[in-house]
Formats: sequence, structure tokens, C-alpha cells
Amino acid sequence: VPLAGVLGWPIAHSRSPLLHGHWLQRYDLPGHYIPLPVRPENLLEVLRGLTKMGFVGANVTIPHKETVLQIADIVTDRAALIGAANTLIFREDGKIHADNTDGYGFISNLTQNAPDWQATRGAAAVIGAGGAARAVVASLLESGVPELRITNRTKLRAEQIKAEFGAKVVVYDWAQAGNMLEGATTVVNATSMGMTGKLPLRIPLDALSPDALVTDLVYTPLMTDLLKEAQSRGCKVVDGLGMLLHQAVPGFERWFGRRPEVDEDLRQAVL
Ligand code: ATR
Repeated sequence: VPLAGVLGWPIAHSRSPLLHGHWLQRYDLPGHYIPLPVRPENLLEVLRGLTKMGFVGANVTIPHKETVLQIADIVTDRAALIGAANTLIFREDGKIHADNTDGYGFISNLTQNAPDWQATRGAAAVIGAGGAARAVVASLLESGVPELRITNRTKLRAEQIKAEFGAKVVVYDWAQAGNMLEGATTVVNATSMGMTGKLPLRIPLDALSPDALVTDLVYTPLMTDLLKEAQSRGCKVVDGLGMLLHQAVPGFERWFGRRPEVDEDLRQAVL
């Protein structure tokens, strides 16, 4: 029976066991997916142990997403560029393969819920420059966005993204963040703000076009203030829960042998 799980510290809040458990049950597949509370100092030892006890892979979450790159034997180009991994495959030869599926989840969520949306249609505006933002930036550039605008409270992190991701990236001052919405066709809140339902501070939406697709990585609440306000301006909005669901697809398929579907039943199971 294939085993998989999610490693984090703390881990109790993770929705991944619900998500994978729902799919295992729905498709009547043999296998188990369990939460694994692992302290940072034990990550190496635990990973090596899991590869020897029937585990076929794992997800990793905070605080292991960056450090796991040092432990993995094979790191995909996109995980290396993003600087973090969330999906591990334990190969038959004992090697640990690390990938990042957050960008895949981000794009799949948009294409599923906004079928008319295309990255190539216009500039994207990304608020935030943390780990999640890096995955979003990588996936938007890979999808052919012509210009990627980014702003962050700590400007240096946005400038680092520009240095690493190239010429299509344009950094905006946090104080002038509203300006980057002008003509943008994709707008993303990739900060951890919004957990309280508050708009990203000091970002006025006056320049937001009703043609823009607006999405938030925050999914508690599902309708953040940013999404509510964008919707009232006529924008198409997509909540962030779908990104969580879609990022789990490639791992589940590799570990348990069936490509799972993301649908309303799954959303209800995970909410
Ligand atoms: P994650 O993996 O969720 O992206 P992270 O790497 O800690 O987490 O990044 C959090 C993001 O939210 C960053 O863009 C952070 O801005 P800073 O780089 O300036 O810290 C942003 N963020 C968090 N709290 C914020 C706040 N109160 N105001 C503005 N930005 C905030």
C-alpha cells in the first residue's frame, strides 16, 4: 500500500490530508496520506527514514519548503528558480526528487474558473514577493505574460525577483502600487495579508480595469476584501482555494497512479 504525507511544523492546520484522503476514498484506491509533524532539525533524518518505510513521496510545507532543496538529490529547474519545493517523489533507487507545483496550481485554478483568461493578453500585477509570489511569477512568465509588474512592502525582495526572473519584471514602489493596476489584465494578491479580510494597505483600486481577472492566494475567507471590491468593479474574480487543490494533483497522480479531478465535491470536503 503506497504511503504519502505532508511534513510541516506545525502541521495540524494543513488541509492536504483531507484533500488526498478525499481522492483516495473517491477513487477507491489503496493508500494512505497522513500529517507528519517534523521539527526543522529532524527533517533530513525523517526524509531518509520515510524512503525506507513504504513512503512513495510527500508534500512539504512551512518551514521546510526551502531547506528541502538542500536535502533532495534531484531538484527540478522550476523548484530551483522558485527557491522552494512542495512535492517530493521518493524514487525506487532511493533518490529524493523535489518539485514545485504551486505555479501549476495557480495557473490551473485560473484556467478552470476563468476559461477565457489568457496570460498573454496583457500585463500582470503581482502584490507580494514572498515564497508564494515567486511561484506565481515563475508560472505567469512561463505562460507568456508580456510584462510582470510587482510590488512589495520590502522592496528589496521584489528587486531580487527582477534580478532572478529577468527583463519582463518591472518593480513598483509600494507607495505607488495603485499605478501598476493601470492596464493590467491579471491582478494577484500573493501576500499573506488578507487573512483578516483587509485589503492590502494603501493599494487603491481606482486604476483597476473591469476587464482584469483578479485573484487572491488567501482563501480564508474565500471572498477577501480585494475580491469583493474587484467584483463590484465588474472584474472576474477567482478565489485562492482552487490553487491549493490543483497544486496537489501532480503529487497524487505520481504517488497513487490516478490523475484526480478538482471539482465542487472536493472544495466542499476541504472547506
Ligand atoms: P509566503 O510563503 O506565504 O509567500 P512569505 O515568504 O513570508 O510567505 O511572504 C509573505 C508576503 O506577504 C511578503 O510579500 C510580505 O511582505 P514583506 O516581504 O515586506 O514581508 C507580505 N506581507 C506580510 N504581512 C504584510 C503586511 N502586514 N503588510 C504588507 N505586506 C505583508
